[in-house]
Amino acid sequence: MYTDFLVIGSGIAGLTYALKVARHFPDRQVTVLTKSQEDETNTKYAQGGVAVVNDLEHDSFERHVEDTLVAGDGLCNEEIVKLVVQEGPERVREIITWGARFDRDALGQFSRGREGGHSRHRVLHHKDSTGREMERALLEAVHQQPNIQVLTHCFVVDLITQHHLGYLVTKSTPDITCFGVYVLNLQTRQIEKLLAPITLLATGGCGRVYRTTTNPAIATGDGVAMVYRAKGRIENMEFIQFHPTALYQPGKGGSTFLISEAVRGEGAILRNHAGEAFMARYDPRKELAPRDIVARAIDSEMKRTGTEYVYLDCSAIPEEHFQSHFPNIYEKCRQLNLDLRHDWIPVAPAAHYSCGGIKTDAWGRTSICRLYACGECASTGLHGANRLASNSLLEAMVFAHRCYLDSVHLIQQPFTLPDVPDWDAAGTTEPREMILITQSLKELQQVMSDYVGIVRSNTRLQRAMRRLDLLFEETEALYESTILSPQLCELRNMITVGYLIVKCAMFRKESRGLHFNTDYPEKSRIVQNIVL
Ligand code: FAD
Ligand code: SIN
Repeated sequence: MYTDFLVIGSGIAGLTYALKVARHFPDRQVTVLTKSQEDETNTKYAQGGVAVVNDLEHDSFERHVEDTLVAGDGLCNEEIVKLVVQEGPERVREIITWGARFDRDALGQFSRGREGGHSRHRVLHHKDSTGREMERALLEAVHQQPNIQVLTHCFVVDLITQHHLGYLVTKSTPDITCFGVYVLNLQTRQIEKLLAPITLLATGGCGRVYRTTTNPAIATGDGVAMVYRAKGRIENMEFIQFHPTALYQPGKGGSTFLISEAVRGEGAILRNHAGEAFMARYDPRKELAPRDIVARAIDSEMKRTGTEYVYLDCSAIPEEHFQSHFPNIYEKCRQLNLDLRHDWIPVAPAAHYSCGGIKTDAWGRTSICRLYACGECASTGLHGANRLASNSLLEAMVFAHRCYLDSVHLIQQPFTLPDVPDWDAAGTTEPREMILITQSLKELQQVMSDYVGIVRSNTRLQRAMRRLDLLFEETEALYESTILSPQLCELRNMITVGYLIVKCAMFRKESRGLHFNTDYPEKSRIVQNIVL
């Protein structure tokens, strides 16, 4: 199969890019691949909203830039921060013209929420289901565009490069080029090749590497793992953001329900089991300090008191206001028999967002020719050591636009795709025991949660690496000998991502932003990105 523009991922990043190139080139074919249903994405679960400056009377670009830099703890690329903040409003206007609705007040002005690390109210939202609304609008626009095809249940296994033509490709090979992908069609169970002169990775996050996460099941870091295997550059994977307030549900691993930071923006207070509002002991910004600080404070309270969660007290928010602003959270609490006028919500930190990822430049270009990346799988330089809340939907839109602008030039340059061999499954047999995969996944999540969580140490990282080595070896053997399944491919990708997180964490001999190592509790004077 051939397509002009190949897009992997149907979240905000992939769909925004697909729409733009398809409208620019109505005679060219755009193909979006997604491994699950078309809307099953991290995007769909976004609650708080999009941070953007849209009221210059009360806010300014400089303030949004400053808040992003402060949250990023010295590691943001300031030029990238400026361009995202400045181009953001135009991208938001654009998605509104495509049909996305944001809440407005009685005067018709955007209603603006506030979240941790923001010095102003600037988060546009659609109640507490902003991502669902944006995903809906994008999918409706995509469905009306005749030259876009969205192929669901298509699991991308690997990028095709010179390696598949029989050449030795290493990290120092110049001009590694992407010619498309091998895809496991989950309906036919066949591996097909899909060739394209331009490929965009928009594969989202990797929260599932941890035992408890706010991310849905699709978030397995596939794009990052594929680029690493293809010898592309990966950056700053140690900066995994833990959201401070995921709903605590005992015994429930996997995806957990988020209690949006916007609830703290409306006045909710964190309390420990003694009922103490403890945040003032950790940071003068209290509940609205940047996320790394709040998550670490909660972690420290839990360890100090020997408990598995703290509480979020929402009683200061009038019930009617809560219900109209956060209808989904309200309903979830109601199902759990929590009366928010006097009951507190049990919450604990959960893996939420990957700040690092596939290294890109200001146009979304990766280190592999003809391969772009944007959205959560990319490391653009915006987030530094800790993402500012609600900056990621914004980043995805800004960079999808930039990838589109660059692709317009690239597609017009002469290029011939080589002859690419079909996938070779010779010698593989049906997997006999799924337990080999499910148990390894549990072990991986256990290791990452226990040794590579909010607080790390040299010993924990070394232990994690030894265990990952074993899991890697066993899983590679399985991969070589069995017919591929999405579960096996995801496990393999997650082990690679776990390895990248641990490796970057080992290289960072300091504590900064989301990475806290008890053996190096201070920040180093040398500020550097870790690139693998
Ligand atoms: P996604 O939306 O995750 O899409 C990834 C796509 O890639 C999916 O379609 C998936 O199927 C596909 N894919 C992955 N691997 C493969 C493969 N191997 N083959 C084929 N397809 C593949 N950010 C904010 O800015 N504001 C918020 O309020 C906010 N709230 C959040 C709340 C929750 C609960 C979560 C989980 C995240 C939140 N975030 C928020 C973060 C934000 O939602 C994500 O970073 C963003 O939506 C990522 O978009 P994306 O397009 O990069 O990836
Ligand atoms: C939230 O609503 O708390 C999530 C916001 C984000 O992750 O940016």
